[in-house]
Amino acid sequence: MKNSFDRLIDRRIVPTEKWSKEKLNEYFGSSEVLPLWVADMDFEVSNTLVEDLKERAEHGVFGYEYKSNRHHQALIEWYEKRHNWKINIHHIHYAPSVLTAISILIETLTNEGDQIIIQPPVYYPFSKIIKSHNRKVVKNSLRLVGKKYSIDFDDLEEKAKDPKTKLILLSNPHNPVGRVWSRDELRRIGEISIKYGLMIISDEIHGDIVFNGYNYTPMSTVSNEIMDRTITCLSPGKTFNISSLSTAAVIISNKMVAEKYQDLINKYHLNHTNAFSAVAFESVYKNGEAWFNELMIYLEENYYFLEKYFEIKLPNAKVIKTEGTYLAWIDLRYLNLDAKELQRFIIEEAKLAFDFGHWFGREGAGFVRVNMACPRMILKKALNQLKEAIESK
Ligand SMILES: Cc1ncc(COP(=O)(O)O)c(C=O)c1O
Repeated sequence: MKNSFDRLIDRRIVPTEKWSKEKLNEYFGSSEVLPLWVADMDFEVSNTLVEDLKERAEHGVFGYEYKSNRHHQALIEWYEKRHNWKINIHHIHYAPSVLTAISILIETLTNEGDQIIIQPPVYYPFSKIIKSHNRKVVKNSLRLVGKKYSIDFDDLEEKAKDPKTKLILLSNPHNPVGRVWSRDELRRIGEISIKYGLMIISDEIHGDIVFNGYNYTPMSTVSNEIMDRTITCLSPGKTFNISSLSTAAVIISNKMVAEKYQDLINKYHLNHTNAFSAVAFESVYKNGEAWFNELMIYLEENYYFLEKYFEIKLPNAKVIKTEGTYLAWIDLRYLNLDAKELQRFIIEEAKLAFDFGHWFGREGAGFVRVNMACPRMILKKALNQLKEAIESK
């Protein structure tokens, strides 16, 4: 049966972060807002996945489990087929989530007081995690020219040169600016890391969600030397909309790093296997491709719908070209509102819950991030609300 991404599903009957009134009140001070924020999708997963989970539930025994060879192979085959990346089975490690992995990796790779480079505006938990470990955030802010962000390599090299800098934390593809970094850009980051002895954590959770005309390059495939200093965080969470099933993979080729990472995973007992996560992981990587291909068509159409909407109805707003991820990054600086005023305006006047640009760093002030992974009707309703609010301003 074909999935209908247009179907409206009441997500409030489960405790959903994005939609629950409780969470909307907590984050936006109002529950009367249409939510297009948290990066998950308002879509049902494939029937195959639902059937596989049901079958596991009906087995009825949920004692201790482990991740079998089938589990590793499902990941290996997906990445080889979709991205031409032959992951070595001995390089695969796991974590309950990508953010858990990043946190453990920061502890593995750096000491208190060390500096870690991020590229803002960027996914805000990055700086929070770095600070929570008493490490220092160093910003290699992205540059916006026209509708496209790029990396300031001179600045990156300056920051990398500092002996206190130990690590670069990448978002590849980049949340929220939607860039799918090219092989050449990744090579330049890798070369700078090699030159100054930095390690790289490459968060590639959005790697599958790339629009036509762009190619996701796993950082570790750029060269063997780069692979040796790269740790890649992967997850089926975004691709297949199973974030609450909490499962992530971490690819580490450097033996010393792998040992230290695994020691910390063991120390905090983070290696338990959840039966449902494991079934989902195998199911989606083995049998999820047809559903995912349909999803990508819908997401890309949503993006073009949004782009056209702004072009025709709100031409002063600038829609940054989304190359990958299902997030739109929109420049509303022409409204001349400071970060707080824009937030108030969007919540109170437009009655919308977006991720506000300044959450991603000072560089994002005046922007909003719109989650396009929803039925087109919802997207259209949100854009109409935004337009009406702007027009009556
Ligand atoms: C770049 C990036 N990394 C990590 C995450 C969170 O991943 P997880 O739920 O596996 O911790 C997100 C979720 O939005 C994300 O956008």
